[in-house]
Amino acid sequence: MPYQAILEQIHAEIAPTLPQGRMPDYIPQLASVEPTRFGMAVCDTDGHFAAVGDAEERFSIQSISKVFTLTLAMQREGEALWRRVGREPSGTAFNSLVQLEFEHGIPRNPFINAGALVVTDMVISHQGDAKAALRDFARRLCGDDDVDYDYTVAESEAAKGHRNAAVAHFLKSFGNLDNHPDAVLDAYFHHCALSMSCAELARTFMYLARYGRNADGPIVTPSQAKYINSLMLTCGTYDAVGDFAYRVGLPAKSGVGGGIVAVMPGQFSVCVWAPGLNASGNSLAGTLALERFATLSGHSIF
Ligand code: DON
Repeated sequence: MPYQAILEQIHAEIAPTLPQGRMPDYIPQLASVEPTRFGMAVCDTDGHFAAVGDAEERFSIQSISKVFTLTLAMQREGEALWRRVGREPSGTAFNSLVQLEFEHGIPRNPFINAGALVVTDMVISHQGDAKAALRDFARRLCGDDDVDYDYTVAESEAAKGHRNAAVAHFLKSFGNLDNHPDAVLDAYFHHCALSMSCAELARTFMYLARYGRNADGPIVTPSQAKYINSLMLTCGTYDAVGDFAYRVGLPAKSGVGGGIVAVMPGQFSVCVWAPGLNASGNSLAGTLALERFATLSGHSIF
C-alpha cells in the first residue's frame, strides 16, 4: 500500500481547510497552538511506517488518553468494569452532568468525562500511582522513554476544571468512586495533558490493530481489543460519532487538542493532528483527512 503517497495527497488536499477550524479556548496552552499545523502518520501490521507534515511534533493528546486508561483498567478489572460504567453512546456533551443524575451515577461510557473518571478511579485502586501507570504504558507502547505530561497543561486543566470537579463529586455521592475525588481529578487532568506526536500515537495504538498484541507481547486479550475498538466506533468521537462512522468507517478516538487516532484491525493504525476543531469538538481537518485516508486506501471496517 503506497501510504506515503496517500498521506502527501491528503496533506495537499486538506491544507486550505486548516484555518477553518475553531481553536479550543478553555485553556491558553491549547488556544495558542498555530491553527495551520498538520501531521499524519500510519503504521501497518507488516511494519511499514509513513508520515507527513508535523507528524513528529508533540501535542496535547487530551481525550485520546481515555483509551489508555480504559486499557489499563480492563487489564485488571475485566468484565467487572461494566458494573460501574456503561457502553452506550451518550448523545450528550462529553462533560454533561444531567444524564448522570437520571442514571444514578453510572456514566454511559468510558469515553465521556464521567466514565473516564470512574475508570481512572479503578486504575488508582489497582496501581496506586495512575499518573505513572499511564505515562509508562504510553512509553512502553510507543518505544519512547521521554514521553511525558505537559505539567503546565495539567495545572491549567485543574484551574479550569470546575465542571470535572462537579462530575467527580457527583460520582462520589453515588458511591461510584472508591478514591477521593481530588486524587481522581489529579490523575485525570494529567492523563489529558500527556504530550505525544502522531508518529508515537500511531505506534502506540498498534496493539488494537494487532488484536491486542504489541510487538513485545499481549497487552489485552483479542476479545478485549474488540471491545475497545467497538467502543471507539460507537463512543470515540463525542456527539458526532454517527457522522464520523458514516464518513470514515473506522474505530477512532479524538481529543480537543486536535488529535484523532483510528484503527483498522488486522491492517493499520493512523493518527492525524490538526488543532482547529469542528462544532462537535473533533479536529475539522483531521476528520476530513481520515475520511480521505479511508477512501484512498480502500480500507474501512465496512
Ligand atoms: O476534561 C476536559 O475538560 C478536557 N481535558 C477535555 C478532554 C477532551 O479531549 C474531551 N473529553 N472527553
